[in-house]
Amino acid sequence: MLTARIAVLVSGGGTNLQALIDAQRRGELHSGVLSLVIADKPGVRAVTRAHEADIACAVIPRREPGFEEKVLEALGHYRIDMVVLAGFLGILSADFIAQFPGPIINIHPSLIPAFCGKGFYGLKVHQAALDYGVKVTGATVHYVNEVPDGGKIILQKAVEVQPGDTAEVLQRRVMEQAEWVILPQAAELVAQTIMK
Ligand code: GRF
Repeated sequence: MLTARIAVLVSGGGTNLQALIDAQRRGELHSGVLSLVIADKPGVRAVTRAHEADIACAVIPRREPGFEEKVLEALGHYRIDMVVLAGFLGILSADFIAQFPGPIINIHPSLIPAFCGKGFYGLKVHQAALDYGVKVTGATVHYVNEVPDGGKIILQKAVEVQPGDTAEVLQRRVMEQAEWVILPQAAELVAQTIMK
């Protein structure tokens, strides 16, 4: 049985990358193999996590000219079948998406269509949920298209907002109870669909 070669794009702490690594070790991510990590800035914890898991890792600074071309070149070099955006803060252009033949999926820390789209990332998402006063939030894994957070939804998981939550506390609960659970599950589902 062939397995999909997976690249993970990261920008920061890499806790979602770690969830993928741990799921692979537990045998829960078996239709794909983590084959490449691309960090869009140097020195982030996600790079260390990739090295510790013996996964090939490239640092391609997002602000440098030719970022997307360099990413596409790396994806081709490593024969990547699908891409997972895991805590990746960049917005990929429609041209990039058109040039990469396989699926691209993203984890967003809310129940899309709430609190998503341009400007909604990291703590801002959770602060908006608290400001609105929602009682339930969560995370979504979706296909990436040219609309920020606009692609078809794959999996979602709800998380309760507790009285007195700060954005930091809520972010941690959403990561632990939702993001780190559904991202590996979604990666396995998508890998299965492309290796049929
Ligand atoms: C998390 O809030 C995640 O939802 C968002 O980026 C933050 C950090 O992710 N996408 P990670 O620890 O770098 O995976």
